[in-house]
Amino acid sequence: MARTKSSERWLREHFTDPYVKQAQQKGYRSRAVFKLQEINARDRILKPGMTVVDLGAAPGGWSQEAAKCVGSRGRVIALDILPMEPLPGVEFMQADFTETGTLDALLHDLKGAPVHLVMSDMAPNISGMKAVDQPRGIYLAELALDFARRVLAPDGDLLLKLFQGAGFTAIMKELRLSFRQVKVRKPRASRARSPELYVLARNFRGR
Ligand SMILES: C[S@@+](CC[C@H](N)C(=O)[O-])C[C@H]1O[C@@H](n2cnc3c(N)ncnc32)[C@H](O)[C@@H]1O
Repeated sequence: MARTKSSERWLREHFTDPYVKQAQQKGYRSRAVFKLQEINARDRILKPGMTVVDLGAAPGGWSQEAAKCVGSRGRVIALDILPMEPLPGVEFMQADFTETGTLDALLHDLKGAPVHLVMSDMAPNISGMKAVDQPRGIYLAELALDFARRVLAPDGDLLLKLFQGAGFTAIMKELRLSFRQVKVRKPRASRARSPELYVLARNFRGR
């Protein structure tokens, strides 16, 4: 199959990307781990003993970091529509987050235990058509926010990947209603050309 211009650019960037090299050298599953590390270094969101849910976890960079930070007293539940190789200290569920049964399965797993941090790096398969990709990305973020509202402990946090464009302002407004602090982060490892941002919503106001 002929490579498209954007897939060629992706391959070129991937093989010359310093974060990809560093991830391989350090045994991380993905370059995405550096985004979480940078946010965590600044905002201290991961602490020993926490219960963390990682949505869109594969191949597992964020889960690796979360498991290391929460330690043996903590718990990391990771979910992805794709399979993920097992990681020590991480409970993995392969499921589509847009299906209602998935929410029930997660709630069942949690058995009412309060979650301290929900993080979502979920991104739809990019078609390249903004009119298609943008609403899909916002929909995943909306679902992650709804889930966070159901499971977060009072004062819990939500770290959410969001795409700038239609629907962004509306979801920011919703986040401000549910959380006391809402900050926007663009870590260095997030490509400048990508419309992705990370929103860190802290101190859940409760249900
Ligand atoms: C950018 S990657 C996540 C990288 C991950 N944070 C890491 O550190 O390795 C986005 C993930 O979202 C997942 N995803 C997209 N749509 C999903 C859905 N409906 N349900 C569950 N996962 C989904 C994709 O399969 C993909 O693995």
